[in-house]
Amino acid sequence: MHYTNLKDETQRVDFAEAVATGLGRNQGLFMPESIPRVDDPAAFLAQPFIERSINVLAGFVGSSIPTDVLAHIVREAFSFPVPVVQASPKTRCLELFHGPTLAFKDFGARFLARSLSYIAGDRKITILTATSGDTGAAVAHAFHGLDNIRCAILYPAGKISPLQEKLFCTLGGNIHTFAVDGAFDDCQTLVKQAFDVDALRKDLALNSANSINIARLVAQICYYWEGVAQIPAGDHDSLVIAVPSGNFGNLTAGLIAKAMGLPAKRYIAATNRNDTVPRFLATGEWEPNPTVPTMSNAMDVSAPNNWPRVEALFARGDLEPGILTGFVTSESETEAKLRTLNGYGYVSEPHAAVAFRALEERLVPGENGLFLGTAHPAKFLETVERVLGTKLALPEPLAAVADKGVLSVHIPNDFGAFERELRTRLG
Ligand SMILES: Cc1ncc(COP(=O)(O)O)c(C=O)c1O
Repeated sequence: MHYTNLKDETQRVDFAEAVATGLGRNQGLFMPESIPRVDDPAAFLAQPFIERSINVLAGFVGSSIPTDVLAHIVREAFSFPVPVVQASPKTRCLELFHGPTLAFKDFGARFLARSLSYIAGDRKITILTATSGDTGAAVAHAFHGLDNIRCAILYPAGKISPLQEKLFCTLGGNIHTFAVDGAFDDCQTLVKQAFDVDALRKDLALNSANSINIARLVAQICYYWEGVAQIPAGDHDSLVIAVPSGNFGNLTAGLIAKAMGLPAKRYIAATNRNDTVPRFLATGEWEPNPTVPTMSNAMDVSAPNNWPRVEALFARGDLEPGILTGFVTSESETEAKLRTLNGYGYVSEPHAAVAFRALEERLVPGENGLFLGTAHPAKFLETVERVLGTKLALPEPLAAVADKGVLSVHIPNDFGAFERELRTRLG
């Protein structure tokens, strides 16, 4: 399997190189050159989750990782449940939040971490990243305990919730966390500056492992297959999958699954008011507006960086035109749908509620819906408790860290100070 750079087709790399470099030349995204087809989807769906996931990923990894190693990686990375639950009479939720950081990012981050660790071999790599909370947790847990990779994670001191901080700043070992006196943007600037210093980049073998890495994307394909596998076969032809979308990585993975032969009828790209894609799908005009804050804040993105991958799938004829539409949900409707779901006895959170609403509004008679539950409701505790007027119990991974001490180093918003700390701790 080869990957081509969507901005420079002369750059053609294997999986190992695509994973190790992240982005191609001219900041181009890597895309699988062709999508492996599944000959007998019904037989494929009958396989157990891990076995099927190994088979999905073998097609994308090619010869970069031997099958026995890949099997080991998948078993370790996907070591938590992925249930489909009935949420309303016509919809089910694919719950992707039962991993260590209670979010769908656990799938991609854990597969990326283990793939990169194998690909790095004897080399020691340092993952350097800035976070406003969620990504840091997924990355820290994914890489924790790996021999040849250390992580340095920067976040704005005092600007993430105490529980969020504890989720990734209490691990220790190869996970180094830095609380910066500044905003998230300042953290990002420090990270960029570090990558710009040649000596530092080489000395520590810096790598970003960011969200556009192809390893994250291919890992996410597996849970679409698992979601459909848990739905009775009679519902497959009328199945509509709604994906709560921000950067559109999740939807890209779903569409790749469809191009492989996943039995599902169509997809809905569900967004909050940051609606560049739904407007584009309706009008053909790409006109990003300024980003507006919403309660489904992980989807507050108006220039989604995975969109070129979706366009490539349609442009190449991997998918039939018309299987994707968009739908936009306002803040008040998001709240209303959280209450609707609660009325059915299902507690959800704002991102999933945006996708649920798309189904409620767009399913036609005879269709049934699957929406993706991308985060545990407790990760959006304040909003969910306010809207539903109830108290939520803390799930085990959050309760387990609540009393632990934060191990972060506090640093000023100053590159010199950051570089010194980085070299002292990781050099
Ligand atoms: C909880 C949650 N839901 C949905 C999304 C959107 O996913 P994507 O950026 O792949 O479209 C994110 C992204 O970070 C998220 O954290």
